[in-house]
Amino acid sequence: MNRILVLGACGQIGSELTMELRKRYGNNSVVATGHRTKPSEKLHDSGPFEFADILDRESVERVITKHDVDTIYNMAAILSARGEQNPQLAFRVNVLGLYNMLELGREHNLERIMVPSSIAAFGPGTPKVNTPNETLMRPTTMYGVNKVTGELLGNYYFQKYGLDVRGVRYPGIISSGTLPGGGTTDYAVEIYYEALRKKSYTCYLREDTVLPLMYMPDAIEGIIKLAEADVSKLKRHCDYNINSMSLSVGELAASIKKFIPEFVCEYKPNFRQTIADSWPKSLDDSAAREEWGWQPKYSLEAMTKDMLTKLSRKLNKG
Ligand SMILES: NC(=O)c1ccc[n+]([C@@H]2O[C@H](COP(=O)([O-])OP(=O)(O)OC[C@H]3O[C@@H](n4cnc5c(N)ncnc54)[C@H](O)[C@@H]3O)[C@@H](O)[C@H]2O)c1
Repeated sequence: MNRILVLGACGQIGSELTMELRKRYGNNSVVATGHRTKPSEKLHDSGPFEFADILDRESVERVITKHDVDTIYNMAAILSARGEQNPQLAFRVNVLGLYNMLELGREHNLERIMVPSSIAAFGPGTPKVNTPNETLMRPTTMYGVNKVTGELLGNYYFQKYGLDVRGVRYPGIISSGTLPGGGTTDYAVEIYYEALRKKSYTCYLREDTVLPLMYMPDAIEGIIKLAEADVSKLKRHCDYNINSMSLSVGELAASIKKFIPEFVCEYKPNFRQTIADSWPKSLDDSAAREEWGWQPKYSLEAMTKDMLTKLSRKLNKG
């Protein structure tokens, strides 16, 4: 029986991942940990909750021992845009924090550590369309540098110590639950909120900026599916490309306009444009499909319909 620890459980992905893991494995088998943010009532009341800082190894070790943890999902991170504003913090959390978790995994003989990477691990010299799993990786953001380092560290711990570290390279994630935490694809969530609230949105990227995006249910299904995959079938560890939709900001705005005809989107690029321009537009995810059955379910239209329905309900309540 797995005892799972989710680090960064109050974040955009961690908050929904925790609830899904609790649904699948039982509420008491999944320990959620937050850093400083107060957890939502749902997260706090549905199972064990602790505070821990991945830069303070002992704070995480106490939780591992107290709850007899054997599996970690490390969702604690500083994302791309925030990372450019504070590269020193990004390095500490994304690299030194991860190193702490890998060391704890080794010392406590943990069964598995799941560590998401990102399309930010690629750089301006990487082929942009159908980006191969194995290609040139020279990222130009601190976050990207940290993500490549994380992939390599995870692979190293697998080879050297037999620690089962696995991860996917997430594209930008769109969700209706917790707000995103300072990434370059935050626009893809904000646009839905503003369309409902104001019928207009000013995007910090150009209209023709194409990026790979994914709806949260697919992102969660993907990481859990990889965690459950038979290790003998896996030829890679921490660097699986996974692809879902590839679309421009204009196409995303147009999909919203189908449901809200008055919606208007304007474009005022800022520093995040340079980051977006250094990332791939779409990914070759054949390794994930072949080795562990990756298969996203949501189309753009299905996602937009679901987002608008869920957010309308949320905004009307609040
Ligand atoms: N959201 C996306 O679009 C996206 C895309 C690609 C990859 N990813 C990756 O997925 C993972 C989760 O991302 P997210 O979007 O949920 O991020 P997020 O910013 O929403 O959440 C990260 C969480 O980490 C916590 N944290 C920060 N410093 C910490 C510390 N020292 N100790 C413990 N916790 C700390 C924060 O409080 C926050 O709740 C990250 O590894 C991220 O790089 C996310």
